[in-house]
Amino acid sequence: MKSVIDTTEPQPQPTDVPPVVATVDLRKVYRSGFWLNQKVVSLKGCSLTVYQGETFGLLGPNGAGKTTLLKLLLGIVRPSGGRGLLLGKPLGDRQVKQSIGYLPENAYLYDYLTGWEFLELAAGLFQIPRNIQRDRLPQLLELVGLPLADARKKQMRRYSKGMLQRVGMAQALINDPALIFLDEPMSGLDPLGRYQMREIILGLKTAGKTIFFNSHILSEVEQICDRIAILAKGELICAGSLNELLGSTNAYQVKGKGGDQEILLKWLPNLVFNHDGSWQGTLQDDYYDFLDSLRLMEGKIISFDLARQSLEDFFIQKIQKQNISV
Ligand SMILES: Nc1ncnc2c1ncn2[C@@H]1O[C@H](COP(=O)(O)OP(=O)(O)OP(=O)(O)O)[C@@H](O)[C@H]1O
Ligand SMILES: [Mg+2]
Repeated sequence: MKSVIDTTEPQPQPTDVPPVVATVDLRKVYRSGFWLNQKVVSLKGCSLTVYQGETFGLLGPNGAGKTTLLKLLLGIVRPSGGRGLLLGKPLGDRQVKQSIGYLPENAYLYDYLTGWEFLELAAGLFQIPRNIQRDRLPQLLELVGLPLADARKKQMRRYSKGMLQRVGMAQALINDPALIFLDEPMSGLDPLGRYQMREIILGLKTAGKTIFFNSHILSEVEQICDRIAILAKGELICAGSLNELLGSTNAYQVKGKGGDQEILLKWLPNLVFNHDGSWQGTLQDDYYDFLDSLRLMEGKIISFDLARQSLEDFFIQKIQKQNISV
């Protein structure tokens, strides 16, 4: 369950802002086998829109087609059908690539280069002048939490998975992109690393960037994303804001102790008492008045959570309905 009162600012209505990603009936069928005579349907007619400034999470079990969709959007693989626009240009447009950042799922980072040398190489590909690189590289390393000494001196074959992921993230941001694609950005990171990655993503969001990412870590997605979509067996099974998918946020699960039972019952019709003397119930009304009333009764709050399904429960239900093992 998401914690405490939702204090996030209301998000701009998607209709007010331009779409940066729009696909219609996008499909991908890979051919495999020695004679290329076997077909693997990776994406079946995907239509979705991502708006400027959004943080959009694409979820789905292994093999659902998430990376395929990302690669189609980035123009790395060609669609077998359907169409799409990225920053207003058709998929694969070369100019658009200047404004895009990409952290691949399994980034291939040259073993015998240091992190610094690799970032210089990436900056060179974007033709970023040396004087700008001199400032940007240390800033990016600080942002992703990779010590300058490691970046300067150690070859990447000596980096841990988490250090590689950080270099990959710095590389994705080297051109100060407006639209950032991240394929499993939390993968391989320890809890501190995940926290830092979440802070980086939230920082990018505050800076007005649009972020499109794939993830299996639903608790992180729930904290970061404005909207999500779920893919299963190549099919988009739902898309929407967390409020739309998980239910509105004006009901709260309250746990507390003390106070007057009769008054509590007026606020929490399903009030139950626990063995330790604490009570709990669902609050539908305006919580300010309830908290005032509780304070007057000298009652105390133990926990106050949004009374809605977690994203994890929602995801499992949706996937099980499709008869797909997770
Ligand atoms: N180059 C390829 N050739 C043939 N089949 C492919 C190719 N790339 C992906 N596939 C197949 O397409 C399907 C979707 O793969 P994809 O990598 O997009 O899934 P995913 O959702 O990213 O999975 P994961 O969560 O494991 O990263 C899988 O069945 C996969 O085997
Ligand atoms: Mg993938």
